[in-house]
Order: sequence, then structure tokens, then C-alpha cells
Amino acid sequence: MDTHDVVQALFRWIHLVAGITWIGMLYFFNLINAHVTAALQPATRREVVPQLMPRALWWFRWGAMLTFLSGWLMIIWKYFMFGSGFYGDAGLFGSNAGLWISLGALFGSIMWFNVWFLIWPAQQKLITWVQEGQAPDPATAKRALYASRTNTFLSVPMLFGMLAGSGHYPSIAFAPWFLVVIALGAALVYYMLFKFSAGVAKTWP
Ligand code: HEM
Repeated sequence: MDTHDVVQALFRWIHLVAGITWIGMLYFFNLINAHVTAALQPATRREVVPQLMPRALWWFRWGAMLTFLSGWLMIIWKYFMFGSGFYGDAGLFGSNAGLWISLGALFGSIMWFNVWFLIWPAQQKLITWVQEGQAPDPATAKRALYASRTNTFLSVPMLFGMLAGSGHYPSIAFAPWFLVVIALGAALVYYMLFKFSAGVAKTWP
């Protein structure tokens, strides 16, 4: 058994489980929870939000942290310990897979930053205000909403970057296809977020 394979397998596995946990929560917040919370009566919201959100946000932010750390460790391992660094045939900016993973890692890292430095600080305040029955500060609510929506938009091209960056599609050149991936991803998220999610399965049965 090759040690290189074992390290890769372990880190990829951790990366995937953590990534699914993070992005699953992100989609839950944007596609489901935002609509449900808005429809609740204030008294119900006061009871539900302080129970639901701290738990959901715990999995969300630690999922983001583990994904981010395992992702960067894989980049260091593959490109800097066993590859050719930034440039060259096996380089982060010198190979097709390297360019794709750079796009994915850039978008994923912006998303990680948004989680830890915009969404989580804003949500801590918002949960406290809801719990105390106070009206939330609109600027804080807006910051959390926009950062969360930005992450939803970034997530779809980010995931394509992960797949292409793992070498699955060697004939799909980074340029110009990253532009197509970003455009298609944006169209898909726009539809899911603004056209579809508010109405889907709204009533039961
Ligand atoms: C936060 C910054 C992130 C960094 C730095 C990063 C980095 C990486 C790296 C280096 C690989 C291995 C590429 C290779 O084998 O050459 C990878 C694979 C992968 N990543 Fe990420 N990643 C990040 C975020 C995410 C997120 C949020 C997800 C969501 C689930 C994700 C999903 C994946 C998947 C599915 C693969 C494996 C694809 C495959 O083998 O087919 N990554 N990532």
C-alpha cells in the first residue's frame, strides 16, 4: 500500500464529509430556513430560533473550518511537497488541474472567511435579539443575508473547481471554460434562490 494514497484518501474523505456538512447547512439556511423563519409568528420565532440556529450554526462553521483546513493541507501536500509548487507541469498555476483547484480553493476560502468573519458574528447578534424579543438591526441582518447568498452563488462554481481540480476532466481547459462554469452556476443559483425556493412544497399535503 502506498503511503501517498493513504494520506490522500484520508484527507479527501474528511474533506468531503466536512464539505457536505457545511454546504448542506448553507443550502438549508438559504433555500428553506429563511422562508420558514420569515413566516413564523414573533412568539414562535422567539422560541424556535434560539434552539435551532446555534446548533445548525455549530455544524455549519466547524464544517467550514475542517473543509478549509483539509483542503489547504491537500494543496500543500500535492503541489508543494510532491508537485512543482506554483509553476511547472505539476504546479498550482502551471497545470490545468492546478488552475481549476485554484479557482475552487479561492472561492472556498472566500466562503470560509464569510462564514467565520461575517455570518457567524452577525448571527450571534441576531439570535440574541430574537431571544430577547428586540427588533434586529437591519444592517446586521442584511450583512448576514448577503454574505450567505454570496456563498450560495460561489458554492456551485467552487464545486466544479473541486471536481476538475481533482483531474476528472483533463480535456476541459481552464480558460475559457471557467467563465462558462461561473455563468451557468450563477444562473442555476439565481433560479433556485429567487424563483424556486419560496414556493416549492410550501403547503402540505
Ligand atoms: C475551503 C477551501 C477548499 C480548499 C482549499 C479545497 C481543496 C481541495 C483539494 C486540494 C482537493 C483535492 C484535489 C486533488 O485531488 O488534486 C479537493 C477535492 C475535493 N473537494 Fe475541496 N476544497 C475546499 C472546499 C471544498 C468544499 C466546501 C467542498 C464541498 C463539498 C469541497 C469538495 C471537494 C470534492 C468533492 C473534492 C474531490 C473531488 C474528486 O475527487 O472527485 N471542497 N479540494
